Amino acid sequence: MRGVKVSLFGFGNVGKAVARVLLEKERFFRERYGIALKVVSVADTSGVVWLPEGIDLQEVLLVKETFGKLSAWTNDYEVYNFTPEEAVEDIDADIVIDVTNDRNAWGWHLAALREGKAVVTSNKPPLAFHYAELVGEAEKRDVPYLFEATVMAGTPVIGILRENLLGDTVRRIEAVLNATTTFILSRMEQGRTFEEALKEAQSLGIAERDPSGDVLGIDAGYKATILHCVAFGPITFREAMVKGIDGISQEKVKEARSRDRTVRLVAVVEKGKVIVEPREVSLDSPLAVESHENAAVIKTDLLGELAIKGAGAGLKETASGVVSDVIKAALRIA
Ligand SMILES: NC(=O)c1ccc[n+]([C@@H]2O[C@H](COP(=O)([O-])OP(=O)(O)OC[C@H]3O[C@@H](n4cnc5c(N)ncnc54)[C@H](OP(=O)(O)O)[C@@H]3O)[C@@H](O)[C@H]2O)c1
Repeated sequence: MRGVKVSLFGFGNVGKAVARVLLEKERFFRERYGIALKVVSVADTSGVVWLPEGIDLQEVLLVKETFGKLSAWTNDYEVYNFTPEEAVEDIDADIVIDVTNDRNAWGWHLAALREGKAVVTSNKPPLAFHYAELVGEAEKRDVPYLFEATVMAGTPVIGILRENLLGDTVRRIEAVLNATTTFILSRMEQGRTFEEALKEAQSLGIAERDPSGDVLGIDAGYKATILHCVAFGPITFREAMVKGIDGISQEKVKEARSRDRTVRLVAVVEKGKVIVEPREVSLDSPLAVESHENAAVIKTDLLGELAIKGAGAGLKETASGVVSDVIKAALRIA
């Protein structure tokens, strides 16, 4: 049995979902892969709980759910006031998981890689702005830097592009990468105005209180930028041309439907080019997704056209991508 030490940063929706999977499937990972994962630290914005012998995940989940912050846990564990940089440098871990929403996390990703630690993340901005530095550092040190869950949650589009199709030249990717906009556009097809559909999405918890990241196309733009980086080489979000769905009229959406077409927020990625904008797609296209699904159509010189469709959000679904990367990293470093 190989023991692998894990530092978990971020204990919100995804962080807790990841902890639950690590807890519930511990035996499966031991039996199937011969790996014993030990979480030695868990961090939220209130502090870092650190125990080299391994943290009781059931207890840490209970504390976060009861008190809302890890710093409330003072009975059995020390809570440290480390910055993430200090934590990745001082805590002895093999894998750093970043499931925070810290936009500046690229700095401590880099610090972790420099320490020879593998990094697994679902956090998009570090990759959308600093892909070249991060992947360059990981390659230089020969440590895994894995980010499956940044695009299409656990649906393994990154894995396909990074680990398969290695002899293919990717020509073009078209994808629907944001489920909130799909929900709003579907509701507009059914007769709601944009504002009504957005309000409904917010009341159901599908859209955030500040919905601009989704509605203005920024989230899809980050994801499309990451797809470009993997398929064609580094680019940053600043070079992406992004238009959201905020200007779209109910008439246009309904009229498209009457012609057996549907409007979706589509990302088009080609060498040197990232475009995200509302586009009409045919109802029989793989891109005519509904609900929380995402889809990508990858065109290559050898394989031709490959479509992949699956969950693009959701907690279990995102944890699937994160934990898969954790196992990959563990198998590589153990
Ligand atoms: N939800 C999804 O379906 C989904 C899908 C794919 C990717 N993602 C990405 O996954 C990440 C997490 O999403 P989420 O839904 O879990 O967000 P969330 O519920 O808002 O949780 C974010 C967590 O990060 C913590 N945090 C922020 N900055 C930190 C820092 N510097 N050090 C330590 N902890 C820090 C927060 O602490 P507090 O608890 O103290 O606020 C919180 O626990 C985001 O980057 C998101 O874009 C989410």
